[in-house]
Amino acid sequence: MKLRFDYNNMMADVIGEHGIDPSDVNRDASAIGAAYDDVMANLGKGWQEWTELPYMNYSDLDSLIARMNDIRSKASAFVVLGIGGSALGPISVVQALLNMRLNELPSSALRAAGLPKLYIEDNIDPERMHELLELLDLKTTYFNVITKSGETSETLAQFLVLYDLMKKAVGAEEAKKHFIATTTMGKGTLYRLAEKEGFVTYGIPAGVGGRFSVLSNVGLVPFAAMGIDVKKLLAGAKEMSEACRTADVRKNPALMTAYLQCKAMEKGANISVMMPYADSLKYMSDFYCQIWAESLGKATDKKGNTVHAGQTPAKALGVTDQHSQVQLYTEGPFDKVITMIAVEKFRRDVLIPSDPDIDACDFLKGHTMGELLNHERVATEYALRKAGRMNFTIVLPEVNEETVGELLAYYMYETAFAGAYLGVDTFNQPGVEEGKKATFAMLGRKGYEDKLAEVRSAVKKDEYYI
Ligand code: PA5
Repeated sequence: MKLRFDYNNMMADVIGEHGIDPSDVNRDASAIGAAYDDVMANLGKGWQEWTELPYMNYSDLDSLIARMNDIRSKASAFVVLGIGGSALGPISVVQALLNMRLNELPSSALRAAGLPKLYIEDNIDPERMHELLELLDLKTTYFNVITKSGETSETLAQFLVLYDLMKKAVGAEEAKKHFIATTTMGKGTLYRLAEKEGFVTYGIPAGVGGRFSVLSNVGLVPFAAMGIDVKKLLAGAKEMSEACRTADVRKNPALMTAYLQCKAMEKGANISVMMPYADSLKYMSDFYCQIWAESLGKATDKKGNTVHAGQTPAKALGVTDQHSQVQLYTEGPFDKVITMIAVEKFRRDVLIPSDPDIDACDFLKGHTMGELLNHERVATEYALRKAGRMNFTIVLPEVNEETVGELLAYYMYETAFAGAYLGVDTFNQPGVEEGKKATFAMLGRKGYEDKLAEVRSAVKKDEYYI
């Protein structure tokens, strides 16, 4: 395992009364063990099929990689259509591993790098769609439509709009070659459409839910299309999986931090801030927010007791948010855990020059921007510790395929352990499904007549409008 986890600042003997009593770890050993056993007993089973993704036979990936290499050689743009788990994993990984300003590079630079532009469209704002269309040359654009259920309104709407335009631009026969579907094989509307039209289709295993799907074809197809080394990504995830399959909580980062977060919740820390100190990891916070919120935010536990569990995830970025939110983190209510993500060595750094005429800037002289950023992280950590605020740091030696794979696997195991500790069903999302069904009903989808009547009869009073 290349990642390191520093949880000193979670503990009462380091930060004082608002921290967690170190002896709690021993006192809660049987609950921690039960959460661990629950996850381990279900490895590869039911909704825990995601645990097996890093262990797949990498040679099976060769044909996918070859096909995506071919597409990359022809594409001016690669566009992913998807939402929720079908988008946030891909967004977090491409931000981490590709040039962060890829789409702004001149065409000559893109051609030299052999890369298309990349757009991941995870919303249905019509203005955004117009602006995308103004940028695309459909003749050389390839679309990857991703939906696990094959039914999500947003993704199907995007697909219908773009497939129609593609057919008009290049003709029906050619249009088919520009769409790749990623969905559950043999099931759902997208699968049926893809089969009818003859799209290349990649499957998502039945027991891999959206927010746990980044290491399935949901992520592997777009990553391979953008030349990311998917084998190294999976190797990193496997490395972390091994660490997370260790029963000793003191050696298992996901189990320890899941436990500490649950303990923090018991102490009233119902907000979990994810704060990477690297722009490349900025969207890891989005990935985390989804997996943590959608998995743990549950009305009932598995025994049917009303629990209204969950910890609200929040996003912050170092150092940017030092100049906005950190004031609240250090002096506001004791209701947060702040997780910082540190990058020890930036892939590229910038030396800060000296200016003989400006003495006031001498302290910056000879340092790099990466050093400044890391000093600021350590300074914030110190300020939080001094103020008695629970925080911990995940350290990546560098951002690369392996460390990103490790980070993703860590988040998935941490969530699974936290869900098991809280006793909730980590892998369902009834609150999200409710909204999806209400949307179908309001748009007049067949079979949703009763739901429409229910939506229409929902109580609303005129006096509460302005
Ligand atoms: O985690 C989940 O299950 C959800 O966030 C889904 O990913 C999201 O609703 C999109 O679903 P689908 O991939 O079926 O279109």
